[in-house]
Amino acid sequence: MSYEKRTLKSKALFERAKKFLPGGVCYASRYFEPYPFIVVKAKGSRVWDMDGNEYVDYWMGHAAVILGHGYAPVIEAVKEQLDYGTHFGYLNEEAIKWAEQVCKWFPSAEMVRPATSGTEANMYAIRLARAYMGKRRIGKFEGHWHGGYDVLHKAVGYPFDKPASLGLTEGQLRDTVLLPFNNLEGVKERIKGEELACIILEPVMGAAGFITPENDFLRGLRELCDERDILLIFDEVVTGFRFPGGAQKFYGVKPDLTTLGKTVGGQYFSGAGAICGRADIMEKIDHLKHPNFWERSFHGGTYTGNALVARAGYTVIRELEKRKDEVYPYLNKLGEKARKGLEDIFERQGFKAYVTGVGSLFAIHFTEERPRDGLTALRTKNIDLTKALHVFMLENNVIYLTSTTSHFILSVAHTDGDIEKFLSLVEEFIKQHRG
Ligand SMILES: Cc1ncc(COP(=O)(O)O)c(C=O)c1O
Repeated sequence: MSYEKRTLKSKALFERAKKFLPGGVCYASRYFEPYPFIVVKAKGSRVWDMDGNEYVDYWMGHAAVILGHGYAPVIEAVKEQLDYGTHFGYLNEEAIKWAEQVCKWFPSAEMVRPATSGTEANMYAIRLARAYMGKRRIGKFEGHWHGGYDVLHKAVGYPFDKPASLGLTEGQLRDTVLLPFNNLEGVKERIKGEELACIILEPVMGAAGFITPENDFLRGLRELCDERDILLIFDEVVTGFRFPGGAQKFYGVKPDLTTLGKTVGGQYFSGAGAICGRADIMEKIDHLKHPNFWERSFHGGTYTGNALVARAGYTVIRELEKRKDEVYPYLNKLGEKARKGLEDIFERQGFKAYVTGVGSLFAIHFTEERPRDGLTALRTKNIDLTKALHVFMLENNVIYLTSTTSHFILSVAHTDGDIEKFLSLVEEFIKQHRG
């Protein structure tokens, strides 16, 4: 039965949603055509809609969910925490345990503060970098996504010279210098004569489709930052728990600060975020060391370090730590199978498409050129084909977001069988669209 025929309840409720939620959704990226189904349950690698249809999920809660939906140790910990209380508004043991666990996970994390989203973590990290360095300007890469914080909300979608959102002022964007990913010489050129407080980047480009750093690019950037006295910030909101110790450990490059979101708050909860890094920088937040507010960088917030999210986050990181020798090889194996399988399909079918990704992340690019940065990932993208793949997958009970970026996220709940099914669907789609 077609998607529209089997999702009648979702269709009706979406019509109602449109009256109260702009665009009918809570986040534009969650919309897809013809209309989004309404999710009522998620377990393992599956989600179910209100009409009772089951989908294999390759979105996994915006990549937050690594251990699968409804992972029992987290659910149990959270249930227990509900009895004690979730939001005290005071320092609590859960937040301290969480902080220790985060610092244990990341090679560069000597101290950490919680934030309530990835966007907020980036906002405070940029402020902290400026405060510590006493410099105003910052570097940000084209096509990289760091959330909706004004100064980083620039050159996300293509074309990069269009405003990434209305409502941003020239003043907010003026001090953000745009940089090309995977092009160290290009970065050097653009920062010539600049005094930058920091350079921020996703070590693996996410929103443009999991594009990995090439040829020691991260190491080169680290050296450049050291030479030029610039702080290096890794936005590991996606990658932080996709590798043991984060992308920084995987690629062997230590940032000065790291920002986190998603998984760091226990996979399932809002209020998830963190800024961590070198103690001497983090201490710029410390009110004990800097009693005058005008001599420190502000950080805080009502729900920061609430016991529920801290406990969930602690539980997930501890589980990942305990199970890392099993979880990560498994995820890598599944990811490799998907990437290799896709490449084989495109070669077998003589179809021009590129495959990117690493570990548990993979993506398909219908582009004319090999995607290695924001420009090459976006400027020649065949949007119609990209959307057609999304519709095709939806018709076959496979779901991922966004409909205009074919990127896929794995969890330990996915199986070889899921990947095999996925690959056979891709092959069928390619056969239909060849020539
Ligand atoms: C790399 C990266 N940074 C920051 C963010 C923003 O995080 P949040 O949506 O929690 O504000 C995201 C969200 O998708 C992200 O992928």
